[in-house]
Amino acid sequence: MTSRWEATADLVVVGTGVAGLSAALEATRAGLRVVVVTKAEADAGNTRWAQGGVAVVLPGEHEPGDSVRRHVHDTLVAGAGLCDPAAVATILADGPDAVARLRAGGAAFDPAGDDQPDRRGRLALAREGGHTAFRVVHAGGDATGAEVERALLAGVRNQRLTLLERHVAASVVRTEVGAVGGLLVLADDGVAGILRAPAVLLATGGLGQLYETTTNPDVATADGIALALRAGASVADLEFVQFHPTVLYPGRGATGSRPLVTEAVRGEGAVLVDAAGKPVMAGVHPLGDLAPRDVVSAAIIRRLADAPGGVDDHVFLDATHLRAEAFRTRFPTVYAACRAIGVDPESEPIPVAPSAHFSCGGVVTTVDGRTAVPGLYAAGEVARTGLHGANRLASNSLLEGLVVGHRTARAVVADLSAGQAGRRSAGRIDDGDVALVPEPVADRPGLQQLMSRHAAIGRDQAGLAIVAKSLDAMATRTTPAGRADVEDAALHLAARALVLAASTRTESRGCHVRHDHPVRDDQRWRRSLVVGLDESGE
Ligand code: SIN
Repeated sequence: MTSRWEATADLVVVGTGVAGLSAALEATRAGLRVVVVTKAEADAGNTRWAQGGVAVVLPGEHEPGDSVRRHVHDTLVAGAGLCDPAAVATILADGPDAVARLRAGGAAFDPAGDDQPDRRGRLALAREGGHTAFRVVHAGGDATGAEVERALLAGVRNQRLTLLERHVAASVVRTEVGAVGGLLVLADDGVAGILRAPAVLLATGGLGQLYETTTNPDVATADGIALALRAGASVADLEFVQFHPTVLYPGRGATGSRPLVTEAVRGEGAVLVDAAGKPVMAGVHPLGDLAPRDVVSAAIIRRLADAPGGVDDHVFLDATHLRAEAFRTRFPTVYAACRAIGVDPESEPIPVAPSAHFSCGGVVTTVDGRTAVPGLYAAGEVARTGLHGANRLASNSLLEGLVVGHRTARAVVADLSAGQAGRRSAGRIDDGDVALVPEPVADRPGLQQLMSRHAAIGRDQAGLAIVAKSLDAMATRTTPAGRADVEDAALHLAARALVLAASTRTESRGCHVRHDHPVRDDQRWRRSLVVGLDESGE
């Protein structure tokens, strides 16, 4: 590091999605000096791309018979025995307040249309996989994330806080007594900076870029997982990577980020069919096409494997029953994405295939975002609160970001005033503590290919061993000089931790499907696997 600048704050938030911005807003309102750091533009993360909506049971808005208890029940069922029931209950109970705050901050959700006369004057509600009621509020038809991000960013820009774009978080700095002392960041031009702060919140989103095809944008590179592991925190449930069943299939061989076809399309009655027109979900699950996401994705993969010659790599989502014009009005984002690849969803089935979508596991935290490292917090997709278990229920993630982001800000305020966070006085930061150190990195397309082949839906010991060995063989130690190096090192470390967990869990559960251990084993494995830096092998 040749030159570097320094600044101080009470709280540094890494990430500008729903969780990070919710926390930043609340912490600023509570009087903390907040710096928000993001490695790209502020709206470049996953939140903006969320389509379906926010699952929440709002007073006076819900379907007859629906309740928070029922939402809790659906979440636990989808989570396949691995949710923390207390975490589920408390996070979902806070949902209505979180959505009310968001609406008070200017977010507009879609009102019920003329086709729902019984809901006149109330919000429109959608249904998605695993939900036993219509309870998903949405915005702009299928552009909920964009509206959430817009409203939160507008709120943040009205506050007295610093937003630092195009700076990647290279490492969490710890004081001589092991507490958080701040964050080392690198700008696009390689200039380093130290943000001295007693509290750092990781709200960095997911890890979809571990795979060749994903709904995640290119910033989803597991940065927070690596930052937390290196700072001494643990991760859990990383083996549960959710593959969304209906991701637009643009053609054979196409890799990279792909547009989602929201589950709400199936909520409106669309049906998955194979190349021969046979329904994929018939007889698979009582909820049919609206079964939990892990069940639908696994059923698609089985159907593709059974296809004559095993050559099919996609199925179709048939939404042609929807009234002409209804599709493009209700799902404008999906409609535009389909038209961009020459498909008219109003008159022909949409080609779709499962792609990496969401990390159900992450940095182990309480429901208030605290990790085991004093002064280090995590919230949103990067965190594992116990809400998702082995398979996240659709549209619970924006809700979790809103609720836990807000709670984390309150926790930071409480910890700082109780003197429990890193505390400026609790230790010095030596220059040696903030040096960039060489980390193993691997060629990204090679890593993505390995992970997609051996650590996606359907894994076995032999394949996972190939990934582990290849990750070792591919790695070269590199001192990060900028964003790409930091990301590649994070992907490598996250892949190691994920593969370790996936090979240890000798059963199939939720999003973790093992060909060599096809049965769920509640006796041995109804527990989370917690991994720290030592176990992850680096
Ligand atoms: C979707 O709209 O299908 C995705 C929503 C989610 O991931 O929860």
